[in-house]
Amino acid sequence: MQAAEYHFIRDLVYQHSRINLGSDKRELVSARLAKRLRAIRLPGVREYCELLRSPKGQEELAHLIDAISTNHTYFFREEDHFTTLNTVILPELELRRAREGWPQLRIWSAACSSGEEPYSIAIHLAEYFRQRPAWPWQIDATDISHRILKRAEQAVYPEDALSRVPRHLVKTYFETGYGPQDGNFRVRALVRDRVRFRHLNLLEGTPPFPAGFHVIFCRNVMIYFDRPTQQELVNRLSRMLVPGGFLLVGHSESLTGINHSLKLVRAATYRAPGA
Ligand SMILES: C[S@@+](CC[C@H](N)C(=O)[O-])C[C@H]1O[C@@H](n2cnc3c(N)ncnc32)[C@H](O)[C@@H]1O
Repeated sequence: MQAAEYHFIRDLVYQHSRINLGSDKRELVSARLAKRLRAIRLPGVREYCELLRSPKGQEELAHLIDAISTNHTYFFREEDHFTTLNTVILPELELRRAREGWPQLRIWSAACSSGEEPYSIAIHLAEYFRQRPAWPWQIDATDISHRILKRAEQAVYPEDALSRVPRHLVKTYFETGYGPQDGNFRVRALVRDRVRFRHLNLLEGTPPFPAGFHVIFCRNVMIYFDRPTQQELVNRLSRMLVPGGFLLVGHSESLTGINHSLKLVRAATYRAPGA
């Protein structure tokens, strides 16, 4: 890929997703575009740039973002957050629930990729509330990639994707595939139905649901953004929390250098003021 082509694609990706590709990702971008070029039978990146510049370019943009974004994720990623949910976050929210008159516990998995994160949260909540007074709960899950959201909605995973899910949870929360689905597992409706997937660019427009989340998981996406974008994202997410709500970021991400009013509760876990 020529430098000018790379710059054109890099700028376009930044404008539409705020993913910051930097100057050293030319090979990575080439590799990721190769599959898309084959799919639409284009001979090279030059022709692809022409397509993006043409009237049909607008339509192609979503595919470009799909091809470029990193969707790596897995069940119960960063287990520490699930421990914190049990030991700090949920007990505290339950105590405040009656006083605040919260009818429903609302959690947002922002940048949910193929669904492993919101389904892990759903399984975790189902287990947590099995032995406690019921509190209705709902998870909203969003991502910029249409392709990955389709996979998330299907909720079908190969056996090796479940390697970190304890066996008893696999038994309770997944159904085994047969015939053409042999070797695959599907998240059961009892948790699947609690997760609502929507398309959303975290840096554009208004989210398709009201503010008032008790917990927001926004993990392993901020690393792809530059500092001003991270600042904007943290401002946007903070506005979506209830007073005293929790923001969970990836353990390799940090809010250092960003202006915010959140308080660090423990590693990668922040609380909004007003509790
Ligand atoms: C590495 S995955 C993280 C998935 C999950 N949160 C986790 O920690 O395992 C990053 C996700 O962010 C999404 N993403 C990137 N830019 C985005 C944006 N501007 N708005 C919404 N989602 C975005 C990508 O499509 C991708 O699915």
